[in-house]
Amino acid sequence: MSSRSAELVARDLAVVWHPCTQMHDHQTLPMLPIARAQGAWLHGHDGKSWLDAVSSWWTCLLGHRDPRIVAALKDQLDTLDHVMLAGFTHEPAIDLAEELVRIAPRAVGDARELQRVFYADNGSSAIEVALKLSFHYWRNLGRGERTRFIALTGGYHGETLGALSVTDIALYRQTYAPLLLEPIFAPSPDAYQAAPGESPAQCAQRALAAMRSLLEAHAHEVCAVIVEPLVQCAGGMRMHDASYLTGLRRLCDEFDVHLIADEIAVGFGRTGTLFACEQGGIVPDFLCLSKGLTGGTLPLSAVLTHARVYAAFYAEYAAGKAFLHSHSYTGNPLACRAALATLTVLREEPVLERNRALAAHLAARIAPFAVHPHVADVRQTGLIAALELVADKATRTPFPASERRGLRVYRHGLDRGVVLRPLGNVVYFMPPYCITPEEIELMVEVASEGIERAVT
Ligand SMILES: Cc1ncc(COP(=O)(O)O)c(C=O)c1O
Repeated sequence: MSSRSAELVARDLAVVWHPCTQMHDHQTLPMLPIARAQGAWLHGHDGKSWLDAVSSWWTCLLGHRDPRIVAALKDQLDTLDHVMLAGFTHEPAIDLAEELVRIAPRAVGDARELQRVFYADNGSSAIEVALKLSFHYWRNLGRGERTRFIALTGGYHGETLGALSVTDIALYRQTYAPLLLEPIFAPSPDAYQAAPGESPAQCAQRALAAMRSLLEAHAHEVCAVIVEPLVQCAGGMRMHDASYLTGLRRLCDEFDVHLIADEIAVGFGRTGTLFACEQGGIVPDFLCLSKGLTGGTLPLSAVLTHARVYAAFYAEYAAGKAFLHSHSYTGNPLACRAALATLTVLREEPVLERNRALAAHLAARIAPFAVHPHVADVRQTGLIAALELVADKATRTPFPASERRGLRVYRHGLDRGVVLRPLGNVVYFMPPYCITPEEIELMVEVASEGIERAVT
């Protein structure tokens, strides 16, 4: 490590408290100062580079420092940096809302049109907004007894208290459980948990039957069901059949509860369609977007909803129905310009088509893992692929979490110049869309070496 890097690491460890980190780990785990980034690559101060195989926590959609986003940001800085969005507006916020409404999922025979955009400034905040909007909608309709949410086992929606409440990952949730709302957890349609001989579609039907039973018992007290469409990302890139979304939409309509689609991680072309909801042919009541929205440059999130929800809040001030939720940086003009530039690329270039070719290449490269004695599952949805490491393939017995096998893969990746950040025993790939076939090969090769080290 160069003296510049060593100095930065020492200064960092003296003052910075890092997210999602037991800081003690850094007594042995290298902290990596990054000087620059370009395309799929992160560059250190001493000539070393790392392929960003996880798109910097799934934000960096097109690649780092996409020139079109950089140009838009520079241009915006010359005119308007920020203004609060209460009482004021600006062109980037309006343009972006119009564009989001234009591209939002639609479904034949569904009158819902997502035509109203509420901004926030990160994914968790978007979830807070959606949960509060749903609860408040029912309250404004005189249905204040609806105070609960249904969430899926293995789901992740963020770590602020509301978002954490509907998250079902013990690592994040358990400690704070006494502080949290008490949602009803419904079984995930996760195809990895399919019974022997059960297809992903049958597994989805089984999960829908369980959801029906919960709604029969609880719909009267439920505001909304919240789901990560197609891929439960932080929960281990667990994937389900799109028919689950179709069935879930029908159930929510039948029992008159809202459907919140959290596309914070999977939106904007990641799963093969612009939005994952499209594969189930559904329109949710609330669509939460963030991460890739700005191409990974600035924090921004948006919650889209339809006219019926908006109308329930629209009244004389004295009626007390307004949605008084705010974050200081709501609809920040710079972030909106970055988002507009990202969406322009998605509109003007054959991004989905290119992603399909990259996804096919990735599928071919990871296919051989199917026969690996410690890989129980090889799964993929669009440009998300995952390998489930297990101690015993026949019984699918996982490695004990305490052994931190994934960390060994992470360490090996760093040595070889690829950022792989396994989720427990799940090694996954979620690269920026600018990745080349050769870089995919490198990414998978390094993962393969890392897995060999981790399982022996
Ligand atoms: C599906 C999903 N929802 C919500 C969030 C929370 O977003 P943020 O980290 O911006 O708060 C995440 C973050 O990983 C996510 O994957």
